[in-house]
Amino acid sequence: MEVPNLEKFVIRGGVPLNGSIHIGGAKNAAVAILPAVLLADGPCIIDNLPEISDVTAILKVMHSLGAQVKMINRTSVEIDPSTVRSFVVSKDMAKGMRASSYFLGALLGRFYRARVAPPGGCDFGIRPIDQHIKGFESLGADVSIENGMVDLRAQRLSGCSIYLDMVSVGATINIMLAAVRANGLTVIENAAREPHIVDLANFLNSMGANIMGAGTGVIKIRGVGRLHGVEYSIIPDQIEAGTYMVAAAATGGNVRIENVTPKHLESIIAKLEEVGATVKIFDDAVQVIMNDRPKHCNVKTLPHPGFPTDMQPQFATLLAIAEGTSIVKEGVWDNRFRYVDQLTLMGAKIHVDGKVAVISGVEKLNPAPVRAVDLRAGAAVVIAGLMANGVTEIEEIGHIDRGYECLVEKLRGVGADIQRVSEETQQEVLKQA
Ligand code: EPU
Repeated sequence: MEVPNLEKFVIRGGVPLNGSIHIGGAKNAAVAILPAVLLADGPCIIDNLPEISDVTAILKVMHSLGAQVKMINRTSVEIDPSTVRSFVVSKDMAKGMRASSYFLGALLGRFYRARVAPPGGCDFGIRPIDQHIKGFESLGADVSIENGMVDLRAQRLSGCSIYLDMVSVGATINIMLAAVRANGLTVIENAAREPHIVDLANFLNSMGANIMGAGTGVIKIRGVGRLHGVEYSIIPDQIEAGTYMVAAAATGGNVRIENVTPKHLESIIAKLEEVGATVKIFDDAVQVIMNDRPKHCNVKTLPHPGFPTDMQPQFATLLAIAEGTSIVKEGVWDNRFRYVDQLTLMGAKIHVDGKVAVISGVEKLNPAPVRAVDLRAGAAVVIAGLMANGVTEIEEIGHIDRGYECLVEKLRGVGADIQRVSEETQQEVLKQA
């Protein structure tokens, strides 16, 4: 998927956010559940889909494989995978999106054959797929790289025991996708425990799979002969919710975040309380209230239930204006501090040494022209723009569109002054000036 660079966000910041925001379906669940539909022998309806470009890209791949894809409304899609004949996902289709790798597991489960270009996605240093490949090989597939494509072939898939060398969301998902169609029992040890892993397992089980232990470090999958079509609703997006919670705190606001699963937000709530926010918890909503300048705190990102790496840039942005010095350690990715240069342009004082950032809180951030260097880095500079008094322009917002639905509308709904400006509008403004 190409990330379009022609539009930008223009934010006039310094306004505390106030009101309520409705959270959409989880991106990282959607991008696993949609490829999983390929395993069904009849149509599936998927509800609560987020309106983001990564979902559009996955649906395009499904269509290119031969599935019949029909949007029922903005957040529900009906997909009939019974017409799929191809097992090839080309480079053009896979680039720019990490989740394209899930077609490996789903197509292997469906056809015992898959040929998929290596995945793209955010640049956090090297993003290997060795654990995915180890899983496919253990299940009985021959894996080769031919003409830059990952090629999987199996006569049959057989249940096995796989120990992941590191906790990997992607490898856990890919192994589950193939193992549901293997003969016998597959056990994944040191499995990822993220909410989207549980959501995928619930989806597959509703189709007739037999998966136990999702949400713990050991997942057991007993293969079944067929999976049938179902209607399924995706869980709320933990990271979208967390991003708006941090934006509320960072602007000294009072925002109710609706349609969330508070259990998924525990680590984010704990850290917000540590910096001085009040967080009220309801059945399917949380409310974040911040009256004072945030206090400093230390954060280490870890696989779930630890503090999510996908919230690290946003939280570091809040800490940029905290009283005192905070230390942020990245425990998942090798290089997830590329956004720091952008915050520095806005006056933040952050020193990065490898996987550690030392943040000396400043009283305020200043507006500046900045870039969204990746998806969550983009969310971070949006928060920074909302905090800074004056006009911040953010370029390369295609990255943000990959994972945040209706961001402008949602933020305007809580009082933010933010616009999406197209190149044409910019030309118009220049002509009139
Ligand atoms: N790793 C390996 N070998 C592998 C797989 C992973 O060494 O075969 C390493 C990675 O290099 C990384 C760590 O293991 O250091 C964890 O990677 P993981 O496989 O868990 O990440 P992923 O599946 O590629 C998903 C999310 C990311 C999120 C991570 C961690 C999707 C589509 N992406 O990536 O989300 O950061 O899990 O939670 O689910 C985002 O939404 O902004 C995003 C980047």
